[in-house]
Amino acid sequence: MTHIGVLTAGGDCPGLNAAIRGVVARATAAGAQVSGIEDGWHGLMEGRTRPLTRDDVRGILTRGGTILGTSRTDPYHHGEGLASLASTLDATGIETVVVIGGDGSLRTAARLGEEGLGVVGVPKTIDNDIEGTDVSFGFNTAVQIVTDAIDRLTTTAEAHNRIMVVEVMGRQSGWIAVHAGLAGGVEAILVPEREYDIDDLARRVISRHESGSDYSVVVVAEGVPAPTGERVTIGADLMGFERLGGVSTWIAAELEHRTGYETRVMILGHLQRGGTPTAFDRVLATRMGIRAAEAALDGDHGKMVACIGSEMKLVPLSTAVAVPRLVPDTTLDEVGWFLI
Ligand code: F6P
Repeated sequence: MTHIGVLTAGGDCPGLNAAIRGVVARATAAGAQVSGIEDGWHGLMEGRTRPLTRDDVRGILTRGGTILGTSRTDPYHHGEGLASLASTLDATGIETVVVIGGDGSLRTAARLGEEGLGVVGVPKTIDNDIEGTDVSFGFNTAVQIVTDAIDRLTTTAEAHNRIMVVEVMGRQSGWIAVHAGLAGGVEAILVPEREYDIDDLARRVISRHESGSDYSVVVVAEGVPAPTGERVTIGADLMGFERLGGVSTWIAAELEHRTGYETRVMILGHLQRGGTPTAFDRVLATRMGIRAAEAALDGDHGKMVACIGSEMKLVPLSTAVAVPRLVPDTTLDEVGWFLI
């Protein structure tokens, strides 16, 4: 009987459970055995697997987080790559590992695949920065959460005649900032893809206030550098992964100083990754999980499921991890006057 393992790795995002459910439902319907691997690569290194039946994944479609747990452990940094996983693979007889991950986990999967591990990737991240797919699940939910937050922050900014600087996730790309910023009708959007000038931003806010609006909302992606040009971090996590956060505080201070308007900061942080996925993400994650199971059943290894147009296709993992997927220039030009 075909034996498929499934793991979730990297930062969580809404839709992980929907994707796990899709894998299990499709694979078990074809008579395959499925094992859930706990806490990403870490669990595979330690042999922590458990059987997943159709019954085990009932009722999880709407739940945020991941029933399997996740981690940023990388077997190449905290072990000996494929060799660290070999005993679990031998003991369990897992032939294909479905890796539901972001850029870092998929990069590890691609490398393990080149060394002979049967892997199939599924792209997840609220950042939407994985190449090869039009969209990754988690992104739509995050955009909705940020849009709701902007709507609320706008009314309080308006009541107090303030500038509100809203910081959102987006390490190397400004997808969340651009989409939620447009949906929320904000005054300016700062993204890592484009340089900004703090004086231009201040001038723009002043001219808006002088022409009748006495409040402004500015959205900033966490990966944008400070006005001085440096990347703002709050150290690294236990795996050495750089933690971003706080650039909005710098930008707000400079804006208040230059404009004379009271300026407040809202760092949305992990709120963007929690809770139930939107209907869009439930459907996307389920379809991606089903397609991944089909690839595993076919032994079509070394590929990642990609949503291209309205279809679920397979693309080489190596393509998906070669470069980050940035917001294209055409989109940035299109929304140009919102961007500083
Ligand atoms: O990669 C996805 C992401 O949400 C980034 O936007 C963010 O910088 C990072 O994860 C934070 O991860 P954590 O704090 O969970 O390690």
